[in-house]
Amino acid sequence: SPARVVVIGSANADLVVALNRRPGPGETVLGADVVVSPGGKGANQAVAAGRLGAAVAFLGAVGDDEHGELLLGSLRDAGVDVTHVARPARPTGNAYIMVTPDGENSIIVSPGANSAVTEADVDAARPVLAEAKTLVLSLEIPLSAVARAVAVAVELGVRPVLNLSPVAELPAEVLAVLDPLVVNEHEAAWLLGDEGEPEDFERLAVRLLDIGPRSVVVTIGAKGVVVADRDGVSTVPSPQVTAVDTTGAGDAFTGALAGRLADGEGLTEAARFAVRVAATSVTRHGAQPSYPGPGEVIG
Ligand code: RIB
Ligand code: NA
Repeated sequence: SPARVVVIGSANADLVVALNRRPGPGETVLGADVVVSPGGKGANQAVAAGRLGAAVAFLGAVGDDEHGELLLGSLRDAGVDVTHVARPARPTGNAYIMVTPDGENSIIVSPGANSAVTEADVDAARPVLAEAKTLVLSLEIPLSAVARAVAVAVELGVRPVLNLSPVAELPAEVLAVLDPLVVNEHEAAWLLGDEGEPEDFERLAVRLLDIGPRSVVVTIGAKGVVVADRDGVSTVPSPQVTAVDTTGAGDAFTGALAGRLADGEGLTEAARFAVRVAATSVTRHGAQPSYPGPGEVIG
């Protein structure tokens, strides 16, 4: 069956090291054994939605190497269509991830093959997009490809969902059609030029709505998410869990959200389900390996 959710974005092999605390400048610390697992914001979103039963296609690029096979295997296992994944002569993207005992992470991404996703790739996938309901984007591929994808989606009546991660300046015409723009509190502050401690999160979401998008979701970690659109603003609380690894929790949220939106659910209702999916993911290690099937979602 044709994909109802199309994800255009990155795929990375995550090289994860658990450690007691992050090193400072000029400092060396010892960590645990490296764990290699499938990640990358785009592939994570696709796997999250696919594992929950959505019909998903992923468009991106991986290298002709072992990490590329790891990513394709994980996507396929989640039922994701990988027909539109390119194999450029570049290494598969890597993410160097440090995870501390509180479950928090710091990430360096070396994009590799992800840098090779072009506007032409997006145009080639037009027939796939034409059948879809929701398009999901994040910013580990070139902004030119993202902007093109949003333009094509709008033309075809497909709903664009974009996670502004890592942060970048979006063209105003891209920002204006996002439904929703998904940001965490740091990305929100960056967009608004805020400094210091965040104010009230509902107010933050309303201010983000004022800069253009059709709707906004601010993810606020263990507290859940704030949803804002022209009908109003509300906080959707997360079930309380013990976090072991928050890596990719935002991607689990966005992928699950997109799946429900593609089914015609309202934004707040879809967010209520997606926070449960994200909460489930933080109770297990890794990004994609931690994402639940329909029967495993807590809360
Ligand atoms: O959002 C989490 C993801 O960020 C990781 O899987 C890593 O690959 C980076 O893209
Ligand atoms: Na996890």
